[in-house]
Amino acid sequence: MTDYSRFLSPTGRQLHESAIRRMGTVVARTTDLVSFAAGYPDPASFPWDDVREIANELLSGRDGSVLQYGPTRGYTPLLETILGVLEARGIRTTLENVAITSGSQQGLDLISRVLISPGDVVLVELPAYTGAISAFKNMQAQLVGVTQDIDGINLEDLDAVCDRERRAGKRVNLLYLVPNFQNPTGALLSLEKRVRLLEWAERRDVLIVEDDPYGALYFDDAASEPETRPMRADDRHGRVIYLSTFSKTLAPGFRVGWMVAPAALAERFETAKQSVDLMTGSLDQRIIHEAVVRGVLPRLAPGLRELYRGKRDVMEAALRRELGDRLSWPVARGGFFLWVKLPEGADDNTVLARALEQRLVFVIGSAFYVDGTGHDRIRLSFSAPPPERIEEGVRRLAGILKPVSV
Ligand SMILES: Cc1ncc(COP(=O)(O)O)c(C=O)c1O
Repeated sequence: MTDYSRFLSPTGRQLHESAIRRMGTVVARTTDLVSFAAGYPDPASFPWDDVREIANELLSGRDGSVLQYGPTRGYTPLLETILGVLEARGIRTTLENVAITSGSQQGLDLISRVLISPGDVVLVELPAYTGAISAFKNMQAQLVGVTQDIDGINLEDLDAVCDRERRAGKRVNLLYLVPNFQNPTGALLSLEKRVRLLEWAERRDVLIVEDDPYGALYFDDAASEPETRPMRADDRHGRVIYLSTFSKTLAPGFRVGWMVAPAALAERFETAKQSVDLMTGSLDQRIIHEAVVRGVLPRLAPGLRELYRGKRDVMEAALRRELGDRLSWPVARGGFFLWVKLPEGADDNTVLARALEQRLVFVIGSAFYVDGTGHDRIRLSFSAPPPERIEEGVRRLAGILKPVSV
């Protein structure tokens, strides 16, 4: 047998596998499994009829551009409609600042390729989204964690950590944040902190990567719209690179997301993208473009909020009923996740191992921490399973956590 490890480059050897995708293999193999692991949207929410109609129309003729290569930046009419989506979120920008990406995950990868040198410090929250951790680590960044409060990142800790790392001779250029219903905590960054972060980034000469897949999925209708305003909307000094996606609001299978960046950086991201995939899929972009033009997003949005609010309520009620005295979690006012604190002394890996025996899967808390902690938490995703499976999953969790302490 050939040993292929000797063919691997240092980068190839160090590639960082996502803990959540690894769970996906378990999910695919097990029958009668309840999965609270991946943050998948509910397939019942996909706009099936719109997509079928649009795809039929696009494929009924012989317009070569539907299946042809296109510009790396993206299909221009889609970029133009995205300017409108952004404006509804308070962000006024122009075509030279926007690029389509293959999901926002590709935006994270392009940012890493263009902005990170090996050994650079990237500041992330404790805890932080695993997909971003993987993308940054693959470029050999050193990830340094900053603590979070109930209303998002702790600014005193942020400044102290940045200062400490710079004094130690490190290059600190990037801060990664998910301000709206963070993955995994569900936290909403307060408006006051958003303003102060923009000032901080200018003062400290740092760029902020603002990753916003969940902003439209708020549960508290009256208050949330103004509270989810992206930092990019008030970014006077060009400090924010903004990422968003159609994955959670239309469907993730299209792999269509976008990034907004200062023009000089957008041009670099485009050049990096040329060697990655030349462009995002034409048919995907055309379908998404038509869907946006036909008003599918605003038509779907209220139903999505109601759907996920309902599922959050089902999961919270079941957890309170079955395990209210043993578990605690912060209120999730939007998004897909509950961030659950385990009973005193319990360990996330041990609880997961026992859960898998009961055909239940979720993501261990420590997967989201870059400092080796987080073993006292788990992330439960309520977005994909139907309500009765959420209840069944919580019953299984209760069976594991109730009888003996782990
Ligand atoms: C915070 C965050 N960023 C990025 C992504 C990736 O989204 P996309 O499907 O657009 O690549 C996800 C998906 O779960 C996410 O939670």
